[in-house]
Amino acid sequence: MKRVTKAVFPVAGLGTRFLPATKASPKEMMPIVDKPLIQYAVEEAVAAGISEMIFVTGRTKRAIEDHFDKAYELENELALKNKTEMLEFVQNLLPRNINCIYIRQAEALGLGHAVLCAKPVIGDEPFAVILADDLLDGEPPVMKQMTDIYDYYRCSVLGVLDVPRSDTGSYGIVKSSFVAERVERIEGIVEKPKPDDAPSTLAVVGRYILTPRIFHHLESVTPGSGGEIQLTDGIASLLIEEQVLAYRYSGTRFDCGSKLGYLQATVDFGRRHPEVGAAFTNYLANLE
Ligand code: G1P
Repeated sequence: MKRVTKAVFPVAGLGTRFLPATKASPKEMMPIVDKPLIQYAVEEAVAAGISEMIFVTGRTKRAIEDHFDKAYELENELALKNKTEMLEFVQNLLPRNINCIYIRQAEALGLGHAVLCAKPVIGDEPFAVILADDLLDGEPPVMKQMTDIYDYYRCSVLGVLDVPRSDTGSYGIVKSSFVAERVERIEGIVEKPKPDDAPSTLAVVGRYILTPRIFHHLESVTPGSGGEIQLTDGIASLLIEEQVLAYRYSGTRFDCGSKLGYLQATVDFGRRHPEVGAAFTNYLANLE
């Protein structure tokens, strides 16, 4: 029985909604308080028992590789200055058993194409896909909830959330039927339908567990919404052949791909931050 031990992080997107901040540095490196979005995503994978982190990167994304790499100059400097606590912090960003693998997606042809780029590293195993700009705060962490669902049902699982009907054009939307509490069987899925055409208001957020059979379907998908190779279209084809479940995760989502969601996450995490949380909460309380 194969467990989920690999996660794909598609990080080649251009991040145009955050220009000029994202002109020369990746949107996934934008911090919520003091930790970049990509690190929250990787920590969520670690909490789910995943040990192989596969980043599908592009130009201007070098900072992500540097972030998870050893930082010799910084470590020397901190050691010389006896900043032991900081030193331990940067040295132990990830547990020792974690491997980071980087694959270059030469052209931004879509999320489905990015996932297909990871095929040589995934092989014949189920795997997770995590979109770092969907910051999910859950206990247990959402990917852990999803690997538990996978371990029980042994099929692909998508994290879903009810959204206002006016927002369906921003998401993959599923048509589904009840299986158990929080679990539904997906009967159809469409990428970014107009509110009037949407089969429901149940939206896919950036968390997926997929069986390796998805690669077969992604290989024959033609460009869809926005002229891109869509993961949603690959899943639509997969579910004709295999069961695919929707899982209503427990937790709060911050859409850090939008400025408003990013600011909301900053306030929420800022208020709970061990170092500045109390002072920040006090500051907010005294705003007019
Ligand atoms: C992608 C997926 C979409 C999904 C969304 C979740 O869209 O294509 O199906 O609902 O992520 O955040 P994007 O936001 O990259 O346009």
